[in-house]
Amino acid sequence: NNYFKIAVLPGDGIGPEVVNESVKILDAIAEVFHYKFQFAYGIVGAEAIFQTGNPLPEETLKICKDSDAVLFGAIGDPSFDNNPDAKVRPEQGLLKLRKELGLFANIRPLKTYPSLIGKSPLKQEIIDGTDIQIFRELVSGIYFGEKFTEEHGNYAYDICKYSREDILPIVHMAFREAQKRKKKLTLIDKANVLDTSRLWRKICRETANEYPDVELDFMFVDNAAMQLILNPKQFDVIVTENMFGDIISDEASVIGGSIGLLPSASIGDENALFEPIHGSYPQAKGKGIANPVASILSTAMMLDYLKLELAAAKLRASVEYAIENKYVTVDLNDKQPYSTSEVGDFIVDYIKFSEKSYYNF
Ligand code: IPM
Ligand code: MN
Repeated sequence: NNYFKIAVLPGDGIGPEVVNESVKILDAIAEVFHYKFQFAYGIVGAEAIFQTGNPLPEETLKICKDSDAVLFGAIGDPSFDNNPDAKVRPEQGLLKLRKELGLFANIRPLKTYPSLIGKSPLKQEIIDGTDIQIFRELVSGIYFGEKFTEEHGNYAYDICKYSREDILPIVHMAFREAQKRKKKLTLIDKANVLDTSRLWRKICRETANEYPDVELDFMFVDNAAMQLILNPKQFDVIVTENMFGDIISDEASVIGGSIGLLPSASIGDENALFEPIHGSYPQAKGKGIANPVASILSTAMMLDYLKLELAAAKLRASVEYAIENKYVTVDLNDKQPYSTSEVGDFIVDYIKFSEKSYYNF
């Protein structure tokens, strides 16, 4: 199959700018590898609220369901963050999209780049060589449990719920990934306090019998937050519930030197969505300074998902080449920064004109 339908949801803030670079790059990949990507654009988030009152219009959901994969930018707008009374929020668009598409596993890879090692505030010898895959459960837990605010606003709750069906598929996925890697899986939880965490532990223990070659261990989330920056190299694959995964993946991004580098894939049985882990960064909107690498590497994860592994490898090599040659945005080089689109153009050129024989096409 050489023909793919890609839903493109640029969203808010710097989303459109970074996604634009990914689309440019997909066009270059289509040219070089003789694929065809057909893009269908949809609105989501604050943008969609302003236009339609709905953070996830039906039309957008339909575009996503009809596609082979979704390329997502970012979501969020300060006008909502500072308004506690807002009933409709941009984030609801993304959460509903994840739920409707059944994207139960959010995969967040994290590694260091030799040339960027000095960009992290952490010591080089601690982070050098870190290579972690975080598997974050994405459509259950406290994000999706019953929520309530009493009418005077003096009482509220959010319920954290998990069932075996919510946990088992992502646990299997994480075990399979560990088998392909260093064969170590860590469940991050709070099993000393939470019933839901004890359920996660039980299911992980049971599932471990099917993966005897993988070493399973458990770590409380408070300790994990510390261990991640004290000794990140002890981790290989991490699996965790929705909110812990949200928090530790932002923390872990410090290891890579910039949150602008980190991609993610959200996978379900029938759909998949690819988005940077960074947010909408409204302060940078329209300035052409946002780092497009997180979106571009999310695109590489999309190519892998579509089984275009050769193109994915080529794209990753191109990104690495740009980074190693300091062709980076201001977050990574404030002395001689390149703009969002300059970094994208550089990668496009590398894909088109670098030595082709090596890849044999
Ligand atoms: C993320 C984001 C989202 C989340 C927000 C925007 C709802 O922080 O993808 O990590 O909390 O999941
Ligand atoms: Mn987050």
